[in-house]
Amino acid sequence: MIKRGFASDNNAGVHPEILKEIEAVNKGHVIGYGNDIYTEQAKKLFKEQLGNDTEVFFVFTGTAANVLGISAVTRSWNSLIAAETAHLENDECGAPEKFTGCKVLTVETPDGKIAPAHVAKHLHGFDFEHHAQPKVISITQSTEMGTVYSVGEIRHLSDLAHSLGMFLHMDGARIANAAVSLGVPFKSFTTDAGVDVLSFGGTKNGMMMGEAVCFLKPGLSADFKYIRKQGMQLASKMRFISAQYIAYFRNDLWKKCATHANSMASLLSRKLNEIGQVKITQPVQANGVFVIIPGTVAERVMKHYFFYPWNEITSEYRLMTSWDTTEEDIEEFVKLLKKELQ
Ligand SMILES: Cc1ncc(COP(=O)(O)O)c(C=O)c1O
Repeated sequence: MIKRGFASDNNAGVHPEILKEIEAVNKGHVIGYGNDIYTEQAKKLFKEQLGNDTEVFFVFTGTAANVLGISAVTRSWNSLIAAETAHLENDECGAPEKFTGCKVLTVETPDGKIAPAHVAKHLHGFDFEHHAQPKVISITQSTEMGTVYSVGEIRHLSDLAHSLGMFLHMDGARIANAAVSLGVPFKSFTTDAGVDVLSFGGTKNGMMMGEAVCFLKPGLSADFKYIRKQGMQLASKMRFISAQYIAYFRNDLWKKCATHANSMASLLSRKLNEIGQVKITQPVQANGVFVIIPGTVAERVMKHYFFYPWNEITSEYRLMTSWDTTEEDIEEFVKLLKKELQ
């Protein structure tokens, strides 16, 4: 079998329950483009999870969910504020700028989390035609640094955004890991905490592909069907995206997968902590572990287990666990790391 590593939760396979569901809906003909019973059922499940006002639109990728969701609430003269570590800033090839036309303004954060004090420097120039108009604060939950916003922290940001006529967007590529970490339902840190637009991912937690753009307030999604089609994200065979969410929510599959991934990250961090020469740099609150590994040790370990450097100057690396990580994977990895450190 091909070795499981810690490079990315994207590198994991598809959970068998998801594959079973894809197989189960692969029967006969249904109307394309989302007018099918499975997509209807999945939309209902989202309303159960996030509240009755939720309007859901399925797309193929997380980048599309972020970019198109933000497009729905902005115009090209707006700006959007995100952490400097945000996926939409670093890993979307400028797609947010290209497709929304908005200026992306970043803030430095020690742990990937934005606080009201960080965004303050960008909150000026309202109503001044020479200045890009701030319209969206975008946060990632759980963050790119494996940390998790509390419900109160999200509420503070949404209160701030709303007080200025702005929106709060959440990149929830790893929302399940955050829900498990907080031990609260999805709704309590999204809809009930004032989030307006949510990219709800599942691919990193056992699904094959597909993300859901969720509008959590009435009226926000009025034009979205056109935005999605123009954005080339309207799937003709939509049932194969939406059905995955049916399996994902059934018997809390999402929770089992994310609980496992998070607990594997905490096991990995405990084991790494026992090694004197390496240093964990971020609180391990979801399924990521950030660690400084000295010298050329990591390069040698990478020959066996590929993983990504986070900061080459400080020798900091990102290790991700996933729904299928095993304790043996961790034992083996730590054993090899210890050997290379000797
Ligand atoms: C925080 C975050 N947001 C969004 C995405 C979605 O990216 P993609 O367009 O590759 O599905 C990712 C994937 O790595 C991510 O880590």
